[in-house]
Amino acid sequence: MVWSSQRALGALRAPGAWPGWLRGSGPAVLRRLRGAAVVRPGFLSAAEEETLKRELDPELRRRRYEYDHWDEAIHGFRETEKSHWSEASQAILQRVRAAAFPPALAQFPMVHVLDLHQNGYIKPHVDSIKFCGSIIAGLSLLSPSVMRLVDTQDPQEWLELLLEPGSLYILRGPARYNFSHQILRDEESFFGEHRVPRGRRISVICRSLPEGEPGPPN
Ligand code: OGA
Ligand code: MN
Repeated sequence: MVWSSQRALGALRAPGAWPGWLRGSGPAVLRRLRGAAVVRPGFLSAAEEETLKRELDPELRRRRYEYDHWDEAIHGFRETEKSHWSEASQAILQRVRAAAFPPALAQFPMVHVLDLHQNGYIKPHVDSIKFCGSIIAGLSLLSPSVMRLVDTQDPQEWLELLLEPGSLYILRGPARYNFSHQILRDEESFFGEHRVPRGRRISVICRSLPEGEPGPPN
């Protein structure tokens, strides 16, 4: 976690170097969001990625991509809330939960699976505090993408996360509440100089429950 921030800070000092997985408008934002916006590249093994893809693809293909909802943050997507998983996938999700959430924090038992078409994208938004607590943890499958966080009070302050397939990202505290997040569309999908061509992308997202809510029944 700290490692990726250090890599990113190192990259700021050494332009041209492989940029790591985080880049920001300046060192201040990287310091501010250290530990709050985290990327763990290679969190999934190739076999784990395959397990999730095989389980999710047939379920997703039964649905149609949705476009053109003027009030929607997400364009070109299909999604599902999934509560039943194969044992192999449950073990993977358990690893995500252990990595992202303190044991006492109540979490949604359902997992949000979002399939973005290669032309799909997610506009800047902050997850509603009605439906999401202080931590969001997401796995990325199939295509790399760039997630951009922008300070809701000061649009000059931003952070970008390079999300490769098999990576896990975690947003908490200030990264979850004080910054919007978005997934860049293909035409805008750059990580610094580095073009990140966007194909179809599946994300698997675990969230904590809104604060003050009773936990899910055991
Ligand atoms: C969302 C969202 C990010 C992702 O569904 O609210 O921001 O990784 N998703 O798909
Ligand atoms: Mn969101």
